[in-house]
Amino acid sequence: MARAVNDKSRLLAEEALTKYRIELLVKGTVLIAPQTLFTDDDLARVDQLQTEIPEEEVREGDAGDSHSVFVKRVRVDLPGRPPSNAHGTAPAQIIELLERKHRRLTLKKILGGWSDYVIRRCQIHRMPTGSFVGIHLDAESDPDFEYAVIVQLTREFEGGEFVIYPSAYEQYVFRPPFGSVLVTTCRNRHEVKPVHAGERRSLVYFCSKRSGANRRIIESSTS
Ligand SMILES: [Fe+2]
Repeated sequence: MARAVNDKSRLLAEEALTKYRIELLVKGTVLIAPQTLFTDDDLARVDQLQTEIPEEEVREGDAGDSHSVFVKRVRVDLPGRPPSNAHGTAPAQIIELLERKHRRLTLKKILGGWSDYVIRRCQIHRMPTGSFVGIHLDAESDPDFEYAVIVQLTREFEGGEFVIYPSAYEQYVFRPPFGSVLVTTCRNRHEVKPVHAGERRSLVYFCSKRSGANRRIIESSTS
């Protein structure tokens, strides 16, 4: 009997992952329910580890876009170089947590495809009141980015909606709850609206099937 119940819950879980995969294929974005990819313990661990990572204020994105956000680097992906972890033990511990087998397999079922995904870039975004991330395209940072995975680490904030623009005529607005995971293709423009109260923190990682050097070409300012 216990086995039948287990089999049934496993089937329901598989069915939910299939639904997520189809939604991601059709819409380019899907919101994964809390507890699917990260437990509350995982989230608490990440949020504790991020306190050990130094932060930098970012005002301009890779494509000259305007931001106001504090970024803690976990894994960097510089043009012409393969991805590498930021210095210190906390970044390596966060990557280890992200790459645990169960989580990797679950995410792969949502992203689809046959080969494994690698994490090319990973960072924490700390957005106190007044912060925002202007409209940009993730693929401009690295043409091999396929999916952005955004994990919500906080509940106490207002504003900070994630808005995706699949075309000039469409927009999807997300207010991802604590512990949820937004997965979106890196080929859609998007932004994070200003935070009106509290502090929004998220962990963002970019997945790709390619593990080599970043093939982004930096245009020379003199040419
Ligand atoms: Fe982005």
